[in-house]
Amino acid sequence: MPLKITVRAVLPVREPGDVIVVGVPRTASPTNTASKKKSRSPLDGIDRALGGALGRQIKRDEFKGKSDQQLTVGTAGRIKPERVFLVGIGAIDQAGAGEARTFAAKAARAANAAKAKRLVLGVPAELAGRLQAIVEGLELGAYRFTKYMTGDRVPKTQLEQVTICVPDKLPADVQDAVTRGQTIGTGVNLARDLSNEPPNVLFPEALAAAATTMSKETGLKALHFDYKEIQRRGMQLIQAVGQGSANKPCMVHMSWTPPNAKRRLVFVGKGITFDSGGLSIKPAAGMGEMKHDMSGAANVVGLMQLVGRLKPDVEVHGIVAAAENMPDGAAYRPADIFKSLDGKTVEIINTDAEGRLILADALAYARTLEPDLLIDNATLTGACVVALGNGCSGWYAANERTAGEFEAAVKASGESMWRLPLLEELKDQLRSDSADLKHTGDRWGGSISAAMFLREFVGGSDWIHCDIAGPAMGDRVRGWDPKGGTGHGVLTFVQLIEASSRMEGKVKPLPAGTTDGVKKSKAEGPVPKRAAKARRASARR
Ligand code: BES
Ligand code: MN
Ligand code: ZN
Repeated sequence: MPLKITVRAVLPVREPGDVIVVGVPRTASPTNTASKKKSRSPLDGIDRALGGALGRQIKRDEFKGKSDQQLTVGTAGRIKPERVFLVGIGAIDQAGAGEARTFAAKAARAANAAKAKRLVLGVPAELAGRLQAIVEGLELGAYRFTKYMTGDRVPKTQLEQVTICVPDKLPADVQDAVTRGQTIGTGVNLARDLSNEPPNVLFPEALAAAATTMSKETGLKALHFDYKEIQRRGMQLIQAVGQGSANKPCMVHMSWTPPNAKRRLVFVGKGITFDSGGLSIKPAAGMGEMKHDMSGAANVVGLMQLVGRLKPDVEVHGIVAAAENMPDGAAYRPADIFKSLDGKTVEIINTDAEGRLILADALAYARTLEPDLLIDNATLTGACVVALGNGCSGWYAANERTAGEFEAAVKASGESMWRLPLLEELKDQLRSDSADLKHTGDRWGGSISAAMFLREFVGGSDWIHCDIAGPAMGDRVRGWDPKGGTGHGVLTFVQLIEASSRMEGKVKPLPAGTTDGVKKSKAEGPVPKRAAKARRASARR
C-alpha cells in the first residue's frame, strides 16, 4: 500500500502526528539561525515548545547537521508527537536528488523503527524544490520485506501517513511531484520484492507470471515465450543455461507503445532466478545470495510498471530472460558449443558465466526491435564488485554520444554508477579454438570481458550495459536502499525515459512481426538476415 502523503506550507511543530523528523543542513548551530535566514526553519518553535530540550540535546551530541548525524529527543507530552528526530543533510549547496531522497528514506526508517503510523516531515527550504525525490525516498525508506514472517515476527505497526511540511509557500506542481514520486518509488519497491523472493517460489515461469500479471494490470502488452518457443526460435544459449533445471527457462517481452512516441528505448534484464554456478558449481558460502541473480529482470519489471502508470511519450520495451542455473545430468557443460539467436557459435568455458549467455540471446532479440537506445542490466560479474565495491555499479557504452546521455541520467538520478571501458585489447580473450567465441576470458578484467562478450550481440545499436552485481543486493542499509534487494538502476532508467520525452522526434514503426509473437521462419525473419550482417561485420573487426 502506498503511503498517504500530503504537502503543506506549515511548521512541523503545529502538525499532528506520532513523530516529527526534521532535515537539518550542516551549520555551526542548527537552532540559532533565526537572524540571518530568509525562510522559516522547520525547527522553528520546536525547541521553544520543548522548553529548550532540543537545543540541549543538539549541544550534548555536537549535532551539526553532518550527513552521517542523526539525533532524537522525547517530547515528554509537551507536543503531540512523542519524538523529534533530526536528520543531518550535510552541505546543502551540494544537495541534489540523491541527498533529498536519502534524507526522506532515513525519516521513513526512523518512523518505522519508532513504530509510528503518522510522520510529520520538516523539509528545509533548500530542498523544497526536490519534492519528487523526497516522496521517492519516503516510499523507498518505508519498504520492508515481511511477506514470509509470521506471529511475533510480523511488524505490528507500519508507517501509513506523512505530512510533508515545507517552509514558505507550496511549489506549483505539488500533486504531480507526489504522484510521480510515489509511482516511481512503488516501481522500485516492486523490483525489490521480486529480487527478495526465495528461489523456490520465484522460478523462471513465476518471474514471467509476475511480469505478465503486472502488464495486464498496468495496460502493457506482454509476450511470453515458454521453453518450447525458446527452442523453436533458436535461443540456444538461454536453453543451454536453463536445461539443467527442473524449472525451465522462458522470456517475456513487455511493451508500452503510445501513438506519439518520440523514441524507442529497450531494456533487457538478466533473470537468473537462482545461480548455483551449474556444473562449475559455486562454493557453499554465500550461495544463497544468488537468489538475487534476477535483479536485472526485476528492475525491468518494476520499471515497466511505472512506465505503464506514468504513460510517457516514449516507446519503452522491457525484456526479461529467465532461467535457473543448476547442475544436473541434463545440465550444459564446459566445452559444449551452442548457436546463439544471432547465429554466432559459442564455446562454453565455465557454466557459472551463465548471465552473459542468456543476455546474448535476449540482446539479439532486442536488437530486432531497432531501438534508439538499448540498455541491459545484470548482476553479471564478481569482478565488477571487486572493482567498485558493494554500493556502486559499473556501466559501459557502445559510443561516446550514448555515454553522454547515460552519464546525464546517472547524474540526475543520484545513483552511484561508474563508467568502465570496453578495452579492445581484451577482445583476444574471447577467441575460441573451436567456435566463433568463447564466453569467458581470464580472471583479470572480468567485468570488461563480460561486457565485450555482450557487445558481440548488439550489432550497431546505441547500447549501454550496466553491471549491477554489487549494489543490486545490499549487505546493509545504504542511502535510500535497504539490506537485500535494492532495485538499483531503476531510478537512472527513469531519467533516461524522462530525457527522451523531452526530445523532439517521432519513433519509426516497429519492424513487422516483432510485437505479436509471430515466429519468423528462418528465411524471412529479421533475426537471421541481421545475423548474417552481424557475422560479416564481426569478421571485419
Ligand atoms: N551472478 C554471478 C555474478 C555475481 C557475483 C553477482 C557476486 C553478484 C555477486 C555470475 O553469474 C557469475 O557467477 N559470474 C562469474 C563469472 C566467471 C565464472 C567468469 C564470476 O563473476 O565469478
Ligand atoms: Mn554465475
Ligand atoms: Zn549469475
